[in-house]
Parts: sequence; C-alpha cells; structure tokens
Amino acid sequence: MTLIVDACPLLLLGAGHMGGALIAGWRRADVVSPRQILIRDPHPGQAALAAGQVGARLDPSDGDLASARTVILALKPQIWRPIAADISARIAADAVVISIMAGVTAADIAQVFPGRPVVRAMPNTAAAVGKGATGVWSADPEARARAHALFAPLGAVADLAEEGLIHAVTAASGSAPAYVYALVEALQRAGASAGLAPEAARTLSRAALIGAAALLEASGEEAGELRRQVTSPKGTTEAALDVLIGEGALDDLVTRTVLAAQARSRQLGGEA
Ligand SMILES: NC(=O)c1ccc[n+]([C@@H]2O[C@H](COP(=O)([O-])OP(=O)(O)OC[C@H]3O[C@@H](n4cnc5c(N)ncnc54)[C@H](OP(=O)(O)O)[C@@H]3O)[C@@H](O)[C@H]2O)c1
Repeated sequence: MTLIVDACPLLLLGAGHMGGALIAGWRRADVVSPRQILIRDPHPGQAALAAGQVGARLDPSDGDLASARTVILALKPQIWRPIAADISARIAADAVVISIMAGVTAADIAQVFPGRPVVRAMPNTAAAVGKGATGVWSADPEARARAHALFAPLGAVADLAEEGLIHAVTAASGSAPAYVYALVEALQRAGASAGLAPEAARTLSRAALIGAAALLEASGEEAGELRRQVTSPKGTTEAALDVLIGEGALDDLVTRTVLAAQARSRQLGGEA
C-alpha cells in the first residue's frame, strides 16, 4: 500500500487499547511511517512503545505538535476535555481532528478545537489486524475523506448520514468483538459440559469461530446462505438451531444486547 502522506504527521492523544490498535493496524498495512506518528500518553501501551522503537515520537515537542496535520482523540471520554484543550492551542489552525471517543459530540469537540474540521469515527479493536469495522461521520467532506484514507487500510468503513448514528455503530460493531468473545467462551463451557476436556473445548471452539469467520470472508456468501448450507434437514445442526434461533431467541437476545449498548452510549453522551 502507499503511504498516507496528506494526513501526516499524525498526533495520537491516548495510545491505550484502541489507540494502540490503530497504530498496530497502520504499521501492519504499512501506510503510515512510524516517524510520522506523534504520541501523547503518560503510560503508552505496547503498540505505542513498539512504534517508539522504530521512530514514532513518544514525547513530541511543541514544534512536533505544531506540525501535526491530523489529531486523533483516543482518550477516555471522562477525561478528554482538559487534555485536548491543552493541545488545541499548540496545533495548526487547519489540522483535522478525528475523535474515536464514544459519547463526545462534534459540537463539544469543535468548542475545544475552534475552526478545525471535526470527524467522528467509531472503529473496533480488530483494526489492529486489518479486519476492523469503522463508522465515520463529518459535516466536512474533506475531513471525512481524510478519515476514510486512514481507516480504510484497517478494515471496512461505512459512512453515516448523521452524527447520532455513531451510537448505533458503537453498539453494532464497536463493542461487537466482545460479544463474539463471549460467544466463544460460552461455546467453550458448553463443549466441556458435553464431555470434552477443557483444553479440547477451548481449541475446538476457537477454531470453529475463526474458521466460520474466514469462510464468511473468503466465500463472500451471505451468512444466512452459509448457515443453510451446513444445516441438513433433521440433522444435528438443525436440532441446535431450533434452540439457538427458534422463535427468534437469538434475534431477541442480540437486539436487546445492541440496544443496551446504544442506550449506554447515549447516556455517556449526556442524552436521556
Ligand atoms: N476499546 C475499544 O474497543 C474502543 C472502540 C472504539 C472506540 N473506543 C474509544 O477509544 C477511547 C479510548 O478507549 P481505550 O479502550 O483505548 O481506553 P484506554 O485503553 O484506557 O486508553 C486511553 C489511554 O489514554 C491515556 N491517557 C490518560 N491520560 C492521558 C493524558 N493526559 N494524555 C494522553 N493520554 C492519556 C491512558 O493512559 P492511562 O492508562 O495511564 O490512564 C490510556 O493509555 C475511548 O474514548 C473509547 O470510547 C474504544
């Protein structure tokens, strides 16, 4: 892939789980030179430290900050404001600000970064391996294009028609890796209950999920079609699915799961 030059230098405020996943994803895709990454974090995570060893600046000077073309806000929503306000005075008047924070509105961010175009993006941690899913919203088409350039090498990107839909993305894909991990854990426990040794249950449940996801990707088929292909009439899979999806059981559970996350995202953003 070619380097994303226009967006650089990139200043990352916060390099914990998600900020680190972005750094790892960009390095893996080879689209951002580590020397073009500036990191502000009092306790940078592993990905940031590894980038630091190959040229990323972990303690950027005021001159470095002034050179940043893009600022990524990857701080916890509870603490972002004073940290961002301190940086705002030191970055260029035309730097693009991309926030991946849940529940902090573009209006709030624009207040702290007056005059700079603001993007809201909601990625997930699979960005670290180029398999992320990111929803993007901005009122500024050029800033949105910059966010596309940065997130497309990290996986799928979907444009959102309005900012409020970020809550739905947070719930449907931002938090979704955790739902899938919970499913693997449940499968593992169920395999052990069915008599497998715990280690065998662990190995097989992980492989089943990774294999199913790889097939979904490699075949390009709809999930429903792949499900039908492995469900013979009166077979074992049909018996299982009668329980799992019968009478809307799974639909109901997953819908309640996603709506709970969406409601919490709205709450964190100060909405009712
Ligand atoms: N995790 C996800 O799956 C995910 C997905 C999408 C969006 N997000 C969003 O990403 C943001 C970060 O989440 P996260 O899970 O990555 O949290 P996290 O692991 O806690 O990362 C936040 C980082 O900010 C650092 N920090 C604290 N004070 C700072 C300061 N003064 N200046 C610069 N950095 C500072 C923290 O350091 P300390 O550890 O020392 O406090 C930590 O390394 C949140 O707003 C969240 O909504 C997360």
